Amino acid sequence: MSTLAVVGAQWGDEGKGKVVDVLAAEADLVARFAGGNNAGHTLVVDGVKIVTHLVPSGCTYPGTRCLLGAGMVIDPEVFAEEIAQLRTHGLLEQDELRVSLDAHVIFEFHRELDALREDASTAQKIGTTRRGIGPAYEAKVARRGIRIRDLLNPARLRERLEHNKRALDPEFARFGSDRSVNIDALCEAAAKWVDWIGPMTCDAGAEVLDFVGAGKRVLFEGAQGALLDVDHGTYPYVTSSSTIAGGVCTGLGIGPTLIDGVWGITKAYTTRVGAGPFPTKLDGEQGDRIRAAGGEYGATTGRPRDCGWLDLPALRLAARRNGLTGLVVTKLDVLAQLPAIEICTRYQDDLDPGRDGFDDAVPVYEPVAGWGGAGWAEQVSAARSLEQLPKAVRAYLDLVSDYVEVPITLVSIGPDREQTIRLTPAF
Ligand code: IMP
Repeated sequence: MSTLAVVGAQWGDEGKGKVVDVLAAEADLVARFAGGNNAGHTLVVDGVKIVTHLVPSGCTYPGTRCLLGAGMVIDPEVFAEEIAQLRTHGLLEQDELRVSLDAHVIFEFHRELDALREDASTAQKIGTTRRGIGPAYEAKVARRGIRIRDLLNPARLRERLEHNKRALDPEFARFGSDRSVNIDALCEAAAKWVDWIGPMTCDAGAEVLDFVGAGKRVLFEGAQGALLDVDHGTYPYVTSSSTIAGGVCTGLGIGPTLIDGVWGITKAYTTRVGAGPFPTKLDGEQGDRIRAAGGEYGATTGRPRDCGWLDLPALRLAARRNGLTGLVVTKLDVLAQLPAIEICTRYQDDLDPGRDGFDDAVPVYEPVAGWGGAGWAEQVSAARSLEQLPKAVRAYLDLVSDYVEVPITLVSIGPDREQTIRLTPAF
């Protein structure tokens, strides 16, 4: 096996950053295929916390190529800041970054529109990250999007910006905003971006094929999670991109036959940030306890995440939508801080999340033997093999794996790289 896709199997924030960082040690190329700086990957390297939003998590390994695919939306200002931040940690010093010519650009007017829409009292509130993600993808589908390749051609950029101005200035006015698309200022900014983005542009599909053809290992890094997928998530409370494994192909410009395996990541419980259905959400003290134990605050917006028990019907749906060949379970150490654990094994009235959706889902829980107690979190985090985990943890993992019918390939028991139990080789 020379390629592996790693995707979120819940509503995002499953710990993809850490898992991809661990697996990237063996990869030659790490390619991200969707989303933008709505994602936030927290990496802990030698005790130093690094948060990336755009650059794939392979960035911590010197010489590992990092690729931003055509399915992404890229805010050049954020990208520049992130590269600078990574360089202060001595990362990305080699010629490691590549960006697809066909990725779309987020401009300030996308960010402003995102915020105006979220703040409007009449709007359906999605609880977006306000980073301009939705407006940029919307422009892409409306065929007025501006790609990285358009930045390299000043005449075409101006023409595309004029098109956007005609479409969006009336919308700003409708919101009572005095903002408008400022073509001259944006052309000026873009001319500066080109200096440093230009040399890293590429054909992402060709890049992946080159690596695979040379017998090298490629990791496809997902963003967000299956239940936020624009086609298969809890629509309309979703992000605007294809977050499932199918997005690897469209987002990078390669065929499905190039994907050798797909690992889905799930927390040992469930979290969600933003609006939309979340059947196993726990209100009150129980939810607060999970949030506190797991440090469940958004890496991008700092918003507190809603928390609840693991939702097996939702996870099984995600496994099917992604064709998972492996399941990664993260944050098992967090449950060790809780006195009792439950798990959702079905919804009332035999409601099926695939057929009936999530809106009316009422979870049915089963208690499971917990592993909470003094010193247990330390014991879980110190384990380096399945055998060293408490019996109750192993039983929990078996229950999850049997239910979703996917083998567990990796277990994460803390934020550090070493707090990882590898069960199956990635490549
Ligand atoms: P957008 O992607 O900013 O348009 O936000 C749409 C929805 O996706 C909102 O509910 C966000 O909270 C959610 N979302 C976007 N990115 C992430 C992420 O990386 N983790 C968790 N939720 C996310």
